[in-house]
Parts: sequence; structure tokens; C-alpha cells
Amino acid sequence: MTILHIDSSISGENSASRRLTRSIVGQVKSAAGGEIVYRDLAADPLPHLTLDAFADTAVLDEFLAADTVVVGAPMYNFTLPTQLKAWIDRLAVAGRTFRYTDNGPEGLVKNKRVIVALARGGFYGVGSPAAALEHLETYLRGIFNFIGVEPEFVAADGLAIGPEQREQSISEALGETLRLAA
Ligand SMILES: Cc1cc2nc3c(=O)[nH]c(=O)nc-3n(C[C@H](O)[C@H](O)[C@H](O)COP(=O)(O)O)c2cc1C
Repeated sequence: MTILHIDSSISGENSASRRLTRSIVGQVKSAAGGEIVYRDLAADPLPHLTLDAFADTAVLDEFLAADTVVVGAPMYNFTLPTQLKAWIDRLAVAGRTFRYTDNGPEGLVKNKRVIVALARGGFYGVGSPAAALEHLETYLRGIFNFIGVEPEFVAADGLAIGPEQREQSISEALGETLRLAA
């Protein structure tokens, strides 16, 4: 059992998504044991994708080798941090994680649990004024579905509204992480 732990927030110890991924990884490990592989995309960023970088499959191999992948995903400018996008760019590889068939694209990643911890400054629920600007959860669900994975999400929202809302949202999301480990 290998747990791949990915963080991408630039906010260090003040990061909500880092608090959530730490809790999720702790829960998953206490439930199933195993080895943790940690990748901090803010401290140790991957370069933008180039053809040469595409030929290096180390990041993809690390992803494929993991049984459970826990991803910290803060919302920046209505979508994912570029650091996290650079990681995703190395996962979507034709012939490894997806292929095109006569019936359309087919995801090739099987038997992998992916849990995403979202941290967003505002609220983006269906019907809310900002819903059309939500390009973080929708993007991550889309790309993981594309490669064959149904991701699970834990979200802390409204984090920029004020300190009380922030603490309440983080504490509710931390409560959700307990349910994920079940
Ligand atoms: C550079 C930057 C851009 C942000 N852009 C958005 C945004 O577009 N929408 C939003 O709701 N919150 C935005 N926020 C607020 C973050 O989503 C919020 O602070 C969240 O806690 C970030 O996750 P983290 O605490 O793990 O870093 C932004 C924050 C930063 C630092």
C-alpha cells in the first residue's frame, strides 16, 4: 500500500489545503497502513511541460505506483495553481493513462483512489453567483475521469470571507476527512 501525498499551496503553514491533506493522509494511513511518498510542488516545483520533460516519466510512474493519491488543491484565480497543472501535465499521457478508441477516449488508470482537498476563498455552489467561475473542482474531476479515476473531494470554502468563516469551514472539512477514511 503506497499513499502519494501531493501539496501545491504557496502559503506554507497557513495553508488550509495542507491541513486537509495532512489529515486525510493520516486517516488513510491509520486505516490501511503503508508507505507515504510526499511531493511538495510549491517547495520543489516541476518545470512547465516541454517535449524533453514529456519524455521523463518519473512523475507518471510515481502516480501509477500509488494505491491512494491525496492532492491538495487551492483555488488560485478560479482554477488550479500552475504548480499543480505542471504535475497533471505529466499524468495525461496517451497509451499510459488514456487512449482513443472507436468509441471515444478511454481511461486506463484502474484501481486507484484519488482524494482531492479543495481550498477556496469564495463559495461556488450550484446556483451561486460565482458558480460559472469554478474551474478547479470541475477541471480536476474532468481530467481524473478522463484517465479513468473517479476522484473524491473534501472542500473548505469561503476561506477569504473572514476568520470565523475560515475556521468553521476548515473544521467542517477536517470532520469530512474522518468519513473518508472509513
Ligand atoms: C494567488 C491567490 C489567488 C487566489 N484566487 C482565488 C480565486 O480566484 N477565487 C477564490 O475563491 N479564492 C482565491 N484565493 C483564495 C484561496 O483560494 C484561499 O486562500 C485558499 O485558502 C487557498 O488554499 P491554501 O490555504 O491551501 O493556500 C486566492 C489566493 C491566492 C493566494
